[in-house]
Amino acid sequence: MVKILWKGNKMRTPFVAGNWKMNKTVEEARNLVYSMSAKLREIQSVEKVLCPPFTSLLAISGLLEGTGIGLGAQNMYWEEKGAFTGEVSPAMVKELCQYAIIGHSERRAYFGETDETVNKKVKAAQTFDVTPIVCVGETLEQYESNRTSEVVARQIKFGLADVSPAFAPRIVVAYEPVWAIGTGKASSGENANGVVSKVIRPALTELFGAQTAQAIRVLYGGSVTASNASEFFGQSEIDGALVGGASLKVDEFVAITMAASKR
Ligand code: 13P
Repeated sequence: MVKILWKGNKMRTPFVAGNWKMNKTVEEARNLVYSMSAKLREIQSVEKVLCPPFTSLLAISGLLEGTGIGLGAQNMYWEEKGAFTGEVSPAMVKELCQYAIIGHSERRAYFGETDETVNKKVKAAQTFDVTPIVCVGETLEQYESNRTSEVVARQIKFGLADVSPAFAPRIVVAYEPVWAIGTGKASSGENANGVVSKVIRPALTELFGAQTAQAIRVLYGGSVTASNASEFFGQSEIDGALVGGASLKVDEFVAITMAASKR
């Protein structure tokens, strides 16, 4: 009998998501998808997700049908419906999307999200069968005062508390150091890999056990480009990327996804 020994990271399907943030009108979003979807769908070994603003989800969901490219929301509320003006419920997200970004650092910084609200949203994702892409990461100040481990471990512990072990392998974690987001100053591959292996996987192991922790995809995010992507994908513990600015550029995003397929 031939015994196949998998390297740990090969068990996890590479994952690349584009977080468009607050960019693109519906027409612009359609055009961007038209110009990248054929190229992306050819890269079959990578799980690919586009996260446009809410206003474009309906238009884009039609365009992505049958392409194998997933659709994600950039946020969602935890209540199913009711008097929550301006919010979008998990049931509404589920109608159009398979994924939702939860706890992005911009939401934590500008919109008062906390580990507690992140946890409510992750549990709502579980209830409504939406795959959460849960963002964690330290600020520059925390990084400079050597508090990365403490901060990131706490974000995982409280953000993912009380999630069922059956749902846990579906979760995707994105390690996004805040100082690397939109600054052009990406973390080094080695530094990011160290945080994932020394902080994030151990915290996931504590919550869900070693086997499940090994199955959870962990992405890197923060100034990922076509030129630095392979540095991250070459790391044993990094399973893909959450891409901001470069996900709005067709060639860049396709090249990043291609780099993930070579992982
Ligand atoms: P940039 O790739 O623009 O640095 O943004 C990263 C990010 O915040 C993705 O969620």
